[in-house]
Amino acid sequence: MPVRVKPWLENQEGYKPRSYGVIRARLDLNESPYPPPARVVEAVTREAARGNRYPEAAQYQHLTELLSSYTGAAPEQIIVGLGGDMVLEKAFTLVLGHREKAVYPWPSFSMYEVYTRQQGGEAAKIELEPSDDRWQLDWSRFTKEALSARLVALDNPNNPTGSLIAPSEDELAELLEKLSREGVLLILDEAYYEFSGVTYAGLTESYDNLLVVRTLSKAFSLAGLRVGYGIAHPSLAEKLRSLLPPFLPRTSLAAAIAALEEPSYAAKVVEVIRREREWLAKSLRKLPGIRVYRSATNFLLVETPVPKVVDRLAEHGIAVRRVPLGDNWLRVTVSTPAENRLFLETLAKIVKTAENINDSSEEL
Ligand SMILES: Cc1ncc(COP(=O)(O)O)c(C=O)c1O
Repeated sequence: MPVRVKPWLENQEGYKPRSYGVIRARLDLNESPYPPPARVVEAVTREAARGNRYPEAAQYQHLTELLSSYTGAAPEQIIVGLGGDMVLEKAFTLVLGHREKAVYPWPSFSMYEVYTRQQGGEAAKIELEPSDDRWQLDWSRFTKEALSARLVALDNPNNPTGSLIAPSEDELAELLEKLSREGVLLILDEAYYEFSGVTYAGLTESYDNLLVVRTLSKAFSLAGLRVGYGIAHPSLAEKLRSLLPPFLPRTSLAAAIAALEEPSYAAKVVEVIRREREWLAKSLRKLPGIRVYRSATNFLLVETPVPKVVDRLAEHGIAVRRVPLGDNWLRVTVSTPAENRLFLETLAKIVKTAENINDSSEEL
C-alpha cells in the first residue's frame, strides 16, 4: 500500500531540474554568471574543514549584524534561511491554513504555487497585463482579493516579466493598514532588489503584517550556497524564526559573511549585468518578430515568432526558461558578454530558419 499523502498533494508538481544535454550557456535560473570572490571561496574552504561541528552562535550573530547594516533594519528584524525560498516557505506555513486563500500575481515566482498547495490553501491569481514594454498589476482588483485572503505575495520586480508591479509606498502602506485590520500577511519578494534599486523594507518598522524577502543568490553570486533572508517587524520575525531549523550549513553562513563584508563585488556584478541587459534588450529588438519587455532584474522576458523556442535553443546547448505565456516565449538570464552574444546569435539563426520555413510554405 503506497504511503497515504495529503489528498491535495497527490499530484503536486515541484520544480524539476531539466536536463538539456550538453550545456554551452546556462541562462535559465537567473544566477550570477560570476563566481563568488576569492575571500568567499577561502571562507567556505576554511569552514568545510570544521564540518564536524554545528555552526557557532557567533556566526549567526555576525551575519545578522552585517545584514542589519546592509539593509538598515534592526538585527531583531532579520531572519536568515536556506535561500529566500526557505523564508517564503516558513511564511506560508505560519499563516496559510487548509482551504484558506493566498493571492498573488500571474505569472509570478513558481514556488508561491507550491507553498500554497503544500498548505492545502487556495490560490487567487491576478493576471498581469502587458502595456507597451512592461507588465502591470490591476491594483484595485488585487486589493479587493487581498482583503479576503490570509496571505498575499507580491514579487517586485516580478519574475518572469521583470517588471516592477508594486504601487507607490503610500499606496502599499494604505493596503497594509487595511490588511492589518483583517490579520492578513503581505509578503513583498525583493529577490532582485540590487538590480531594481527599489525597496519598501522601511515599512516593516511600522507594519507587523509585512515580510520583505531578499536573497544572496543573485547579485551576491551565492545561489549554490543557499542564503536568503527576511526583514520583518520584530514580533513577526520572532514567529518566523521559531519555525526555522536550528542550524544552517556553516559553509553557507561563512560565505554570506564574507560576501557581505565586501559588498563592492556585488555592486560591480550588478553594474556589469545592468549594462549587458540593456545591450541585449536593444540587440534583441532588432531581430524580426521579437518583443522584449523592460526589466528591473537580471533577466529578460522575450516573445518570439518561433514555436517551441526553448527546445530549439536547447538543441544548440543554450538553456533558457519556459514561461507559462506560450511556447514561443522565453525568459533568459543576462550573463557574461560572451554568453549573451552566443544566445543572441543562436536565437537570430533560429528566427531566420523559422522565417525561411514560413516563406517556403507560403509559396507552396
Ligand atoms: C522572485 C523570486 N523570489 C525568490 C527566489 C528564491 O531565491 P533563493 O531561494 O535562491 O534565495 C527567486 C529565485 O529565483 C525568485 O525569482
